[in-house]
Amino acid sequence: MIRLEKISLIFGRGTADENEALKNVSLTVNPGDFITIIGSNGAGKTSLYNAVSGTYPLTSGRIFMSAGNTAGREITREPEYKRARYIGRIFQNPLLGTAGRMSLEDNMMICSRKGYPGLKISLNRQTRDYFRSHLAALDMGLENRLRDNVELFSGGQRQALTLLMTVMSKPSLLLLDEHTAALDPHNAELVMQLTLRFAREYKLTVMMVTHNMKDALETGNRLLMMDSGDIILDIGAEEKAKLTTADIITRFKDIKKKELSNDEMLLG
Ligand SMILES: Nc1ncnc2c1ncn2[C@@H]1O[C@H](COP(=O)(O)OP(=O)(O)O)[C@@H](O)[C@H]1O
Ligand SMILES: [Mg+2]
Repeated sequence: MIRLEKISLIFGRGTADENEALKNVSLTVNPGDFITIIGSNGAGKTSLYNAVSGTYPLTSGRIFMSAGNTAGREITREPEYKRARYIGRIFQNPLLGTAGRMSLEDNMMICSRKGYPGLKISLNRQTRDYFRSHLAALDMGLENRLRDNVELFSGGQRQALTLLMTVMSKPSLLLLDEHTAALDPHNAELVMQLTLRFAREYKLTVMMVTHNMKDALETGNRLLMMDSGDIILDIGAEEKAKLTTADIITRFKDIKKKELSNDEMLLG
């Protein structure tokens, strides 16, 4: 689906503030993967998404994208707005995914045209019925509120809506960046359940950054741990099913200790 080949992202190169957000990261995401990603603040999780989405140009490395059985197409230099046609991304802040001052139906219209501004879809009875049928699936009563401005909705409703609109655009890859972290526990659970349902129903390929260890362990078929701009653990479904939070912490400490002793050897 997507292949990262030794990608680096260095900010402020050559200055005193030089910061290597990604260090030669290689990763292959397979079609249908649901990957959870953990790692402390500043580990490089969001930077990984920025690299995949094309938010910042890479310092080095290459990115390939493939759909179905096609050979990978290099997208290293493809601009972000073009990648947005096939890469969906949802952020922590529920206000970012929708435009508050616009009606629900206008938000959905704009999203349907995403990446194709010239596309002619008009708001008629047919499109409204189409929107309503999808909104009903959220079970939040939003199908009766097409004309309401989105700012009237709760954070949970807005995040569920963002998720729905993103999924309706059938992304090849869905990037979730702590998308439930700003919600209260009830809404976080609701959006999480919705995420799982959509992933199944739409056969999505998903990467999900989370601080919630339970979600990270119980969701998906693969777990990545990031640290200091690197992927330090990549655990498959079988092993993941047996893991506990305590195991992860132990593994993390073991890896860090090894790194430290390597450095000490170098210095010695
Ligand atoms: N636009 C930027 N300019 C400079 N440094 C950045 C920028 N974005 C991220 N960084 C740095 O890169 C590192 C990784 O950050 P980030 O990817 O946001 O981590 P995470 O999402 O895991 O918390 C941090 O040290 C952060 O300060
Ligand atoms: Mg982040």
